[in-house]
Amino acid sequence: MAITTCVFDAYGTLFDVAAAAREAAAEPGREAFGQHWQKVANDWRLKQLQYSWLRAIIGAHTDFWEVTQNGLDWALENSGLDDAELRERLLALYWELSAYPEVPKMLATLKAAGLNTAILSNGSPDMLNGAVDSAGVGDVLDDVLSVESVGIFKPDRKVYQLVNDRFNCASDEVLFVSSNGWDAASAVEFGFHTAWVNRSGEPMDRLPWKPHHVLNDLTTIPDLAGVK
Ligand code: LAC
Repeated sequence: MAITTCVFDAYGTLFDVAAAAREAAAEPGREAFGQHWQKVANDWRLKQLQYSWLRAIIGAHTDFWEVTQNGLDWALENSGLDDAELRERLLALYWELSAYPEVPKMLATLKAAGLNTAILSNGSPDMLNGAVDSAGVGDVLDDVLSVESVGIFKPDRKVYQLVNDRFNCASDEVLFVSSNGWDAASAVEFGFHTAWVNRSGEPMDRLPWKPHHVLNDLTTIPDLAGVK
């Protein structure tokens, strides 16, 4: 079936999750953080995701802002950083992450071709609206779908079902794009046509479901969606 709907994960896929720590490290007076920012960024992301999965398994949902703060607190402590001002700065930057450079044009191409476009993310609606506004991509997205409307994080199937319900489409009309290997694999299991954006050359996740496409960035998404 032809692709009618292109759906994107948010953090790490459209928006650069490492940007908050990288930008804070470049600010004057943060020389000490300059030596730690990559480890903090990695720990922060890993713990944020681990907490989301654990809460989904246990059935103890909270919103993504809470697990984002919990993950940052673990990451700062793991690097021996006890700095309330740095913590506040990193959290503030998380609300205005930059989009990867190819994102605006890629989304505009999909919209001009008449495809449905949306974000499907663990992020809370407020967080996602902040990121969409600061990246200036609101006009080229039909919707921003948050897990908050089903009260459980990815990869629960109820989350992927939000796409079919919103656009009244079959799973095989959807091209789902994620930089998270586990998210891409789970979307294949759900039935979406799926692209994994592997910017940093990570190994393929050892899961039973493999993405249909592996990309270095998002520039070829219109081709994959059949846009001439
Ligand atoms: C999201 C995270 C998982 O945007 O990247 O859903």
